[in-house]
Amino acid sequence: MKAIIVTDQAAEAAGMKLVERPEPRAAINDVVVQVYASGFVGTELAWPSTWTDRIGRDRTPTIPGHELSGVVTALGYGTTGLSIGQRVFGLADWYRDGTLAESVAIEARNLAPLPGDVDFTVGASLPISGLTALQGLFEHGHLRAGQSVIAHGAAGAVGSMVTQLAREAGAHVIGTGRAADRQKALDFGAQEFVDLDNDTLEDVGNVDLVFDVIGGDIGKRSARLIRAGGTLVSIVGPSEARPVDGLAVDFVVESDRAQLSEIVQRVRDGRLRTNIGNVSTLDDAVAAFNSTARRAGKTVIRVRP
Ligand SMILES: NC(=O)c1ccc[n+]([C@@H]2O[C@H](COP(=O)([O-])OP(=O)(O)OC[C@H]3O[C@@H](n4cnc5c(N)ncnc54)[C@H](OP(=O)(O)O)[C@@H]3O)[C@@H](O)[C@H]2O)c1
Repeated sequence: MKAIIVTDQAAEAAGMKLVERPEPRAAINDVVVQVYASGFVGTELAWPSTWTDRIGRDRTPTIPGHELSGVVTALGYGTTGLSIGQRVFGLADWYRDGTLAESVAIEARNLAPLPGDVDFTVGASLPISGLTALQGLFEHGHLRAGQSVIAHGAAGAVGSMVTQLAREAGAHVIGTGRAADRQKALDFGAQEFVDLDNDTLEDVGNVDLVFDVIGGDIGKRSARLIRAGGTLVSIVGPSEARPVDGLAVDFVVESDRAQLSEIVQRVRDGRLRTNIGNVSTLDDAVAAFNSTARRAGKTVIRVRP
């Protein structure tokens, strides 16, 4: 099968290559999925799990990509809940070969059925952004109606989901980002927008929840805006930012079949809009990942037409 591999962390995206790889085999509780579309997060090549297995051994050459939509073609021993020919989408294991390939072996529990009226490109754009927003806001941030939320990077892949889900839950949403993102953030439902390069973040006053997708100084300054009892939810790695009198949660998204189904149902109902940026084919993907053009929204690779 065709797949994109990486072998050299220092080379970053310039080290990505489209090559022939052996077809994956289904282990216990796995399915093999013929990939139709794959989602890619630009920071993946900096994640330790892209380079090593769970006990730190080199696992290169690695196939990146952790989101997928496609069709089940084989079932491993003991696998239940999915069938051959079924349309699925989901989130692949961080420490296994991923989805920038024509096929992937993946645990069945990481997948949910993809309804027939949802396009594969849309399916592959949802798992990481949708699950991260849902888990961050409600499981870790315990968001309630009437609370105020800073949604950093509100025009980005995760931030646009955070903005929409928080609004739907009855929160007041202050989106942030670059000057050029103002209208897009407002279109996703933010009631206010802070241009982080030109406005003063502190002018928004105190909030109940900060959803941080940026970190660094922005993370630290945001933590100081959290009112007593509020929460800083951060997804950009262990952070030093801590609210004075609240909770800080650094978390990594997990796959969840019921939540994936909930997210795709919202998309079908028109309550949630996905935020797809660049779409390219597997043949053109390496060039797309090496482009210096700004990526606005989720990068999706359409592996099969
Ligand atoms: N822990 C987890 O489970 C988890 C899950 C998903 C994602 N992540 C991480 O979360 C981060 C965001 O992911 P994403 O897919 O949402 O990325 P994305 O689509 O690039 O969105 C990030 C948005 O924030 C903006 N931004 C970043 N730094 C900024 C700054 N200093 N000032 C103003 N705007 C800024 C970006 O604009 P520019 O493009 O112009 O910088 C972009 O619009 C990544 O680091 C990713 O690795 C973690």
